[in-house]
Amino acid sequence: MKAMMHIFRNHRKAAVFLVNMWHEKAAEKIRAKGRFTVALSGGKTPEALYDLLGKDRENPAWKGTHIFLVDERFVPHDHPDSNYRMVREHLMEPLGWKIGSMHCVQTEAVSAETAAEKYADDLYSFFGSRPDFPEFDMIMLGIGKDGHTASLFPGSPALDERHRLAVAVHEGRISHKRITLSLPVINHAGEIIFFVIGKDKAPILRTITAQGAYLPASRVCPEKGRLSYILDQEAAAELDPEAFQGRMTLHFHHYTET
Ligand code: 6PG
Repeated sequence: MKAMMHIFRNHRKAAVFLVNMWHEKAAEKIRAKGRFTVALSGGKTPEALYDLLGKDRENPAWKGTHIFLVDERFVPHDHPDSNYRMVREHLMEPLGWKIGSMHCVQTEAVSAETAAEKYADDLYSFFGSRPDFPEFDMIMLGIGKDGHTASLFPGSPALDERHRLAVAVHEGRISHKRITLSLPVINHAGEIIFFVIGKDKAPILRTITAQGAYLPASRVCPEKGRLSYILDQEAAAELDPEAFQGRMTLHFHHYTET
């Protein structure tokens, strides 16, 4: 599997490229099967992307688009740290909620474990894939400075989950319990995208793309889908192409443009 690495002059150019990728994939999947399924990550990086997507309210593909969350903090939906709240404010409300469906993690459940079970049931019910893993058309991921992705943190037992679709995560280093898609579900997707911006991510990007790396983000490896990194030049600044050994194709997008 050869990953594509798209490197842009700045955050906005990377986000604009990603919006186009999204619309192309959505149109392709809606033509082919009448729907487009996508799982979104939280964090700060994707906010500008969701804002751009939210501006395209008239796109006919939205009514066939079904949005899920890659992970969630076990907090109320109106909590400042809620991923659902972030997606609602930056994408769903600008779109007037005019999409196929939005699937959230029921963080009002009695425990993070119960919320994970309910989310898995919702996934099975929507995709009708039981006992197989659901196949998302697109999964949007970020990468933390420690190499985590979704809510899969280095050394976490959640990384070894092979059967459940979603699991609860209790990590001392994070302020809230989390619910996250498991690695098999992520790797079962048709299109996996790492959207990583900024110079503070340059060191970890070098580490996770090195040969033999075993951090959570390095373990994202689609079974049959496509893996793309959408980066700005700051995040890509410390990459070592020698270490890719033919595993990545780099595409530098028009640095000369102002
Ligand atoms: C979350 C995300 C998480 C995020 C990374 C990067 O719920 O926080 O799913 O995996 O993508 O931590 O976050 P930033 O984009 O804020 O750097």
